[in-house]
Amino acid sequence: MLNKLLRTKPVVAHGTSGLKKCLTAFDLALLGIGCAIGTGIFVLTGVAAATQSGPAVVLSFVFAGIASAFAALAYAELAASIGGSGSAYGYSYVAFGELIAWLMGWILLLEYGVGAAAVANGWSGYFINTLANFNIYLPETLTKAPMLGGNINLPAFGIIWLLTILLIIGVKESARVNNIIVVIKLSTIAIFIALAIGHLNTDNWQPFMPFGWFETLDNGKNIGVLAGASLVFFAYFGFDAVSTASEECKNPQRELPIGLLASLAFCTIIYIIVSAILTGVVPYTELNTASPVAYALTKLGYTWASTLVATGVLAGLITVLLVLLYGLTRILFAMSHDGLISPIFSTINPDRQTPTRIILMCGFVVSLVAGFFPLGELAETVNIGTLAAFIMVCVGVIVLRIRQPNLHRPFKNPWNPLIPVLGILSCGALMTFLPSSTWERFLWWIVIGVVFYFAYSFKHSKLNR
Ligand code: ALA
Repeated sequence: MLNKLLRTKPVVAHGTSGLKKCLTAFDLALLGIGCAIGTGIFVLTGVAAATQSGPAVVLSFVFAGIASAFAALAYAELAASIGGSGSAYGYSYVAFGELIAWLMGWILLLEYGVGAAAVANGWSGYFINTLANFNIYLPETLTKAPMLGGNINLPAFGIIWLLTILLIIGVKESARVNNIIVVIKLSTIAIFIALAIGHLNTDNWQPFMPFGWFETLDNGKNIGVLAGASLVFFAYFGFDAVSTASEECKNPQRELPIGLLASLAFCTIIYIIVSAILTGVVPYTELNTASPVAYALTKLGYTWASTLVATGVLAGLITVLLVLLYGLTRILFAMSHDGLISPIFSTINPDRQTPTRIILMCGFVVSLVAGFFPLGELAETVNIGTLAAFIMVCVGVIVLRIRQPNLHRPFKNPWNPLIPVLGILSCGALMTFLPSSTWERFLWWIVIGVVFYFAYSFKHSKLNR
């Protein structure tokens, strides 16, 4: 029995996928930036500053960035040595065997599905703001989740359906479209910085840490810079998409680590600058709004720029959404292909050559989550899953060094096992700063996953046949 739970897949050598090798480290870095910059910086910065970190949200971004950097190095080692356009699911199948791989895939489904719902919520905030600039107002019952006093967040629900239809038609992220959107996103940020920096008032940075380092309130909510770090960590989720492109880069050994670390470093710097300016031009207490960057510009008197920036954010978030929804369908596809979930999920529509059925199902579920749950809860749920995935990847590096010492590793972390251990400790610490309600949801998800594995996947796994 134990042997079966630990059955592994062999390492797929690099270069056997037949995919064209055309991406450079620069393309990879842009891919990471394109997936990462989104709701985290454009919305959650404001939420975290107003309710958890104060102006010290800058420090929250630094802590979350450090934890991500250790995980990025671990991803780089696995992505460079295990081929097959992997993801944390693929690495786990090789390093730990089937049960853990299943759990990893199960967690990734939560991460990508709920992540897409969270980004749709961020999109909705800027959409409503843009409409308001044109004097169009939607009733609150149609723009807020039930937990926030509304009935449904209709824009969030609608954007998921729109993208679901695009994915069914066969629209896929391409490196070129991604590069264009990254330029739009960065221009949006540049406009904000250029206009706002002249209005900095250092009084707004006082008190710098109004909520302290960490405290749990009676209502179960965590506050403080460290709790803020565990929320804004959402802004870093997505850069790991770089590792899934390992089969398509010219020289994974060199380009992967550079691409991963460069996109991470760039995002961290941008996050620090934007959050410092945002809290420097508007008192942090006012930033708990659905579109804080646009709000700040309006408050400074730049209504035109506020509309322009909001429009840029709308375009920018769509690529993040496409990547997440596409990633979700791809993970389901891989798990179905391995026999761990029903083969229904790996059927391709012969006319369209897209897995229509999976996309529709994903759209249905994610749109409901996006329409009926508030952003904060969603983001924390994603973060606990992402942090767990990062930890597994770090553990994977250590386990594979022991189980397969002679595996060809084009990129090797120095001073093994220092970096993965630091990754496990820092990501683990961020997990502990998340509220107990998030932990409960996560543990339920794991329990359901384990039950499903033993009821279905264990018997139907391809490795069983
Ligand atoms: N990191 C991405 C965002 O902030 C998912 O929207």
